[in-house]
Amino acid sequence: MKSQSSTPILDAVVECCDKETIHFDVPGHKGGRGLSDFDKILREKGLKLDISSAKPVDSLNNPSGVIKQAQELAAEAFNADHCFFMVGGTTAAVHAMIMSTCKPGEKIIVPRNSHESIIKGLVLSGAVPIYVQPGVNRELGIRTGVSSAAIKEAINRNKDAKAVLLMNPTYYGATSNISEIVRLAHSRGMVVLVDEAHGTHFGFHEDLPMSAMDAGADMSAVSIHKTGGSLTQSSMLLVKNGMVDHRAVMTTVQLMLTTSASYLLLASLDAARKNLATMGDELVGKAVKFSRAARDRINSIEGLYAFGKELINGDDIFGFDETKLGVCVSGIGLSGFEVYDMLKEEHNIQVELADGSNILAIVSLGDSESDIDALVEALEDISTRHAKGWRQIEQPILENPYVVISPREAFYSPKRTVMLEDAAGEVAGESLMLYPHGIPIFAIGERITSEMIDYISFLKEQSAVLVGTEDPDVEYIKILGM
Ligand SMILES: Cc1ncc(COP(=O)(O)O)c(C=O)c1O
Repeated sequence: MKSQSSTPILDAVVECCDKETIHFDVPGHKGGRGLSDFDKILREKGLKLDISSAKPVDSLNNPSGVIKQAQELAAEAFNADHCFFMVGGTTAAVHAMIMSTCKPGEKIIVPRNSHESIIKGLVLSGAVPIYVQPGVNRELGIRTGVSSAAIKEAINRNKDAKAVLLMNPTYYGATSNISEIVRLAHSRGMVVLVDEAHGTHFGFHEDLPMSAMDAGADMSAVSIHKTGGSLTQSSMLLVKNGMVDHRAVMTTVQLMLTTSASYLLLASLDAARKNLATMGDELVGKAVKFSRAARDRINSIEGLYAFGKELINGDDIFGFDETKLGVCVSGIGLSGFEVYDMLKEEHNIQVELADGSNILAIVSLGDSESDIDALVEALEDISTRHAKGWRQIEQPILENPYVVISPREAFYSPKRTVMLEDAAGEVAGESLMLYPHGIPIFAIGERITSEMIDYISFLKEQSAVLVGTEDPDVEYIKILGM
């Protein structure tokens, strides 16, 4: 019998809070410091702010009052023509972008290092992905952006595609030449959709890459909660007039919405927009300055390499977001996963993610100088006490997968379960992701290869978090067939 007086989630959240962890992950407000006016109101009013829709506070399902005004202000601040506030994360905004542009069976050009929300958007819409392989940096063992040449080739081979989807930036900070890709796509009548989950802050400081809206993209899904300061789960869908009809987009957005949108989330979007619009240059500039200082200091620690703008090559890394502080740790003989755990367990520092060779810290508008000191000192300590000498972790870089059937067809096909080790050559009946970053190792409908299975074994050895399969231990997976 379970005890109904227990509150497992509440207890765990309170415990996390009490630990006073130093956060280099999202949300970007970092305990409220990056959204101080709203934090103050929240402390004063508490749950009284949690109200439901009524005339004075408008309705997200049919905005005509204060929500409409707030969305118009946001559209202006982000250089869009229209803005929809989203309360189901950027995932819902990504789904709305894809569903409002692609009908079942229509093609969409997508980078293979896309987030799982895009694959789910393909299931919902029935669109067929044409994958473009992003660039690769073998020294760091990471995928980068997609080059304009790769997109051009995909467009030429798929003249009937409806849309091109891009990431701005990748998790590690690389951006593509969006303006050029917009020109290419528009000249062929294709719309450009941008997953800007990690680029909310781009339009607010001149040293950052260009935002999707500034580059002329048609739609952009921006995770204001990641680097813009609003509450987790709140997001915006930005739309430019021209190739898409914002009323049709609104109809799709309505499909994604709860009829009970949280005013805490909506109000936090409003407050975050005000912050960025009125003080963005200063706040984002501070994050850039902190990140640069941290990068310089980390690069003076033997064996560590904090990568930055020097990676720009005008091609698959057209621009670089300096607030993404990626550190390659191969030079101290540890994996990124090991350093991630050491930072948490020995220094109470939470970074955003790890892979075989790197850790990634996200510097945003809520950070302070003392947090940066703590991160640099912790890395210094780890490199002094735990360094084992050079050890490049063999991180397989998977090749472009073979899409056997569309994600939606695969979703509705009969499936059976097999042991993972027996799955090479089969068609995936579910997707598998490393979390974070949530990029599928294989996506539903793709041919599973032995390289993928080796990579999964490598990730298991590293105790990495794998999600997406029915079996939480990923011993068994679902494949298509009876
Ligand atoms: C690149 C990318 N796109 C989309 C999303 C989905 O955003 P959300 O968690 O707000 O639904 C994420 C989340 O991490 C992401 O990293």
